[in-house]
Order: sequence, then C-alpha cells, then structure tokens
Amino acid sequence: MPEEIEEIQEPTAHDFNQKHLLGLAHYSKEDILYVLDQARYFREILERPVPKVPTLRDKTIVNLFYESSTRTRLSFELAQKRMGADVVNFSAKASSVSKGESLKDTIRNISSMKIDMVVVRHESPGVPHFLTRCVDAAIINAGDGAHEHPTQALLDMYSMRDIHPDLQDKNIAIIGDIAHSRVVRSNIIGLTKIGANVTVCGPKTLMPVYVEELGATVSYNLEETLAWCDVAMALRIQLERQENGTELFPSIREYHQKFGITMKHLEKYPDFTIMHPGPVNRGVEMESEVADSKRSIILSQVTNGVAVRMAILYLLSGRSRV
Ligand code: CP
Repeated sequence: MPEEIEEIQEPTAHDFNQKHLLGLAHYSKEDILYVLDQARYFREILERPVPKVPTLRDKTIVNLFYESSTRTRLSFELAQKRMGADVVNFSAKASSVSKGESLKDTIRNISSMKIDMVVVRHESPGVPHFLTRCVDAAIINAGDGAHEHPTQALLDMYSMRDIHPDLQDKNIAIIGDIAHSRVVRSNIIGLTKIGANVTVCGPKTLMPVYVEELGATVSYNLEETLAWCDVAMALRIQLERQENGTELFPSIREYHQKFGITMKHLEKYPDFTIMHPGPVNRGVEMESEVADSKRSIILSQVTNGVAVRMAILYLLSGRSRV
C-alpha cells in the first residue's frame, strides 16, 4: 500500500445505520462528519496510479435521471465504476416514460432486474422518499426539485474543510437564487449541524421565508456579506424554474450589477474563497475571471464530489471498505 494511504487517519468510530440518503435533514452531525471523514480515504484512492477498489463488486446500481445533469450524473457513474459496481444508466428522455409509463411502474420494472441501489434525480420534491416505499434498494437523492441535493452539500462541506479543517464558527455566504435552490437548503441544514454560520444573500424576490427557520441569516447587501464571509458560494439563477423568465428581477444585467462577484470584490476582500456548485453562468453570478481565479475552488469541488459519492455508496452498501 502506498505510504500516503497508510497515513490516513481512520474516522472516529460511529454507528452509521442509515439505509438511504434522502436528505441531510435525516442525518445527524455525527453521520455527516463520518461521511466526510470516510471521503478522505476515497479521495486518496483517486490519487493512486490505479484509482480503483473492489468495494461494490457484484452490486448493481441504477442511475435514474429525470432531469438534466452533467456533474452529478458523471460523478456518481465514475464513483460506482471506481468501486467495481455494475452500473445501469436510465435517462427519462430516452425511456418508456416518454410513452406514458408512471414513475412507480418504471421503478418496479427496474427493481425486478435485482438492483441494490438507486441514484435518482427528479424535478418533483419527495420522489426519492416515494421510491423507498416502492423498492427494497438503497435510495440516494441526486436532487429533487427545490428540496434537497445532499451529495452536493456533502462535497461542498468536504471542499470547505480542505481550506478550513474545522468549520465550527466559520462564516459561509451563499449568494444568488435562494428560492429555487436545493443546494442551498441541503447546505444550510448540513453546515448549521456542524457548527458553521450561514448567511444567504440575494434579491428579496428570490428569498424564501424558510431559510431563517433553517438557521441561516438573510442579507440583501453583497458588500457586507463578502466583508463578513470566509467562503462565498454563488448559485446560478434558475430561469427554467421561474414561470416567465426574469419576472423576479428586472434583468440579468441588473442582477449582475447588484449580486455578481467581481475581480474588484476579490481585491477589496482578500480572504474569502469562491465556490459554485455549477453549472456557472459566467458574467451573471460572477465575472468569468473570478471563476478561473486562484481564489476559486470550483473544479476541486467536482474532484471531491467523486470521493464523497464513493464514501456514501460504500456506507449505504453494507460492504467492508476494500
Ligand atoms: N451541481 C449540480 O448538481 O450540477 P449538475 O446539474 O450538472 O449535476
């Protein structure tokens, strides 16, 4: 075994007994930290000359995507293949869903092919929970409407801990379209559980009431937010979830002027790190140079996503690690 693998500290023992990952609302602080610690091991595996382990050999996993995805779908598929699983990819557009088949019938048909795990993305909140009542397989939520995107929040927290190993009392700003974001909801739930302070910032029309109930504070002032934070995570404006395009703010140009992160902000506030779950709309939530700057860890988030998803697949598989 290479030297660097031997140096990895084993996670503190924890009785992880979750069957599914439907959302971080169902995970304790200890569960979250345990997943993040396990992911450190898999992150090291990804640096090996042969970045593979046989942990999921003989396990069959279906990736059930009813909504478009680049990062999440590829990241799950890569994680599964790195762990030796048999992988089946289902895309709603190319399936019998287009012939009128219901979600329940689709999943029952897939399930009768003897699958162990389902990774699901769907535009309707609650679909992952619904699937737990239809099949015996472990269900992993890869994003359900504006509800939760738990593996994104886990990889975000993992990436923040690369820079701030203890997130207790660190200041995390999430900026942009808060109302339509499942990423923000999972991040607020996860980050507040592990002791970070979260402020959400964006136009009033994109600010849902529930964020304060979840433990975040609200700001409408980008300058104050950037002066305060250790990490600034920008979110995409989800025009596809707004009924008439830009009706919730006057124009994309005005949005960028008020809430877009610029190179001037990076000069003025020299300490915060830039994150974004992707896809980035350059020139809207941030200037293109900001996304590519040394302060940005956007591509590290994607790399870490594979390790975090390997960790969750391992933990829900009931298998030993290697
Ligand atoms: N961050 C994220 O969920 O990206 P995709 O929509 O490309 O999967």
